[in-house]
Formats: sequence, C-alpha cells, structure tokens
Amino acid sequence: MSDRRQLVRVADKAALAAAAAEQLLAQIDANPARIAICLTGGSSPKQLYELLATMPYRSRIPWDRVHWFVGDERFVAAGDPLHNMTMARRAFLDACAPPANIHPIPTDGTDPDACARRYGEELRAFYGADRLDPIRPLFDLVLMGIGPDGHTASLFPGFPALEVRDRWVVGVDHANVAPFVPRVSLTLPVLASCRKMLFEVAGEDKRAILTRVLSGENLPANRARSEHQTVFLIDAAAWPENFRDQPDV
Ligand code: 6PG
Repeated sequence: MSDRRQLVRVADKAALAAAAAEQLLAQIDANPARIAICLTGGSSPKQLYELLATMPYRSRIPWDRVHWFVGDERFVAAGDPLHNMTMARRAFLDACAPPANIHPIPTDGTDPDACARRYGEELRAFYGADRLDPIRPLFDLVLMGIGPDGHTASLFPGFPALEVRDRWVVGVDHANVAPFVPRVSLTLPVLASCRKMLFEVAGEDKRAILTRVLSGENLPANRARSEHQTVFLIDAAAWPENFRDQPDV
C-alpha cells in the first residue's frame, strides 16, 4: 500500500473535469484488456461525466470493453434524482455504454444489507475470485469525492462500516449528512483495490474539510487510499491556503 498521495492543482471546476477525463483516459489506455471503472456520486463528478459523452472524449473510450461500477449508492429507487447511478446514466452512460457494461448497486426491496451482499457477489463474479490480490486490482480507476464531514463513498466518520474488512460491500442504515437515506457502500479494502484512486475536490466550501483531510486527521477521506496510486485533483478555490504547489503528502 502506498501511503503517499499526489496533489494536482487546477484552475477551476471546468479544468478539473478536463483533467479528470485525461486521467480516466490514461487508465484506459494503460490496459488493453477489460477495464473496470468505479464511479462516485454527489455533485462533484457530474461535469466530468457530461464531458465524457462529448467529443473528443467519447470517441477515445473503447466503450465495449469498459465496465462501470459505483462506489456507493443512496438507498432510493433507480430513477430517483438522488440515485447516484441514475445521475451517471443520464450524464453519459445511457448514451454511450452498452447496457451490460453498467453495474448499478441494487436498491430494490427494503434491505440495504441484502442489496450490499448482492453487489458483493456481482463484484466477485466480475473479478473471478473471492479474495483480492494486490497485484491484480479489481478496478483500473476509482473516483471519489469528499463530503462536508470528511466522508467518502458512504463511509462516514466513526461509523462501523468504516472498519469492515471482511466484506466487499456494506449496508449503512443511516447517513451522517444529507440526503438522509440509507446507503450501500463498498468498503475501504475494496475501494483500495485499484490502479488509481482519483479524488475530485472543487469549490470554496471544500477547503476547510480538505485541509483537515490532508493534515492527516482520522477521517474516511484520509483513510481511503489506493494500493497503488492516489491522486487528489483540487481546484484553486478548494486548495488549502498554506500548501505549496504540487506537494506529495
Ligand atoms: C454520495 C457520495 C459521496 C460524495 C461526497 C461529495 O453518494 O453522496 O458518493 O461520498 O462523493 O459527499 O459530494 P459532492 O460531490 O456533492 O460534494
């Protein structure tokens, strides 16, 4: 596990989406076989998703061999405006990706734990083994965001889900921040099984929590690391005041 993170500063949200698209394409270009990308929810990645549906990005993605997963889901019906995979579908997947390559977390029924188990089975079937091997990561790329309380995916500070290491996916019966609906989340070791983990952090309202995360506080967004490479893309408005440019932390 590499504990170091690379910080990349960009001008604004538009530049951040373009930089994230380039990082995504680089991960795709590095793998000539089947590719797995784990998306994130929230508002931060929407601009990136919309960009991927436009030229030239759209023509640079080999859609047939890219599979799209999601790191966490709000426990609402598919189609609900709060549903993370629905946002990604509307922004780019429905227009570009073969339906069989889209892997939503199930949110039917009433039990987030049962849906978590089903998604765990789907991930293990895709991976082809029950145990993750560090030299063969599950994902080529995992996208992440940071919530106002330092959560990432649906792993909230102090919640038991954060400590789970023996399950791939967990049900989270309530959320620490809005929207206050149950969640389903991949666990830290499963999110770590990627060639690259990419955080997108933009806007003035992220600066305080990003400062706490980068200063090493025990927060989920600090504990989430790729076993290989972790990159934070940060715009000028979110960049912590006393950081020099391009530090590795
Ligand atoms: C979710 C998320 C969550 C998100 C952060 C940042 O389902 O809410 O996946 O972890 O990434 O809360 O959200 P914003 O991008 O909206 O600030």
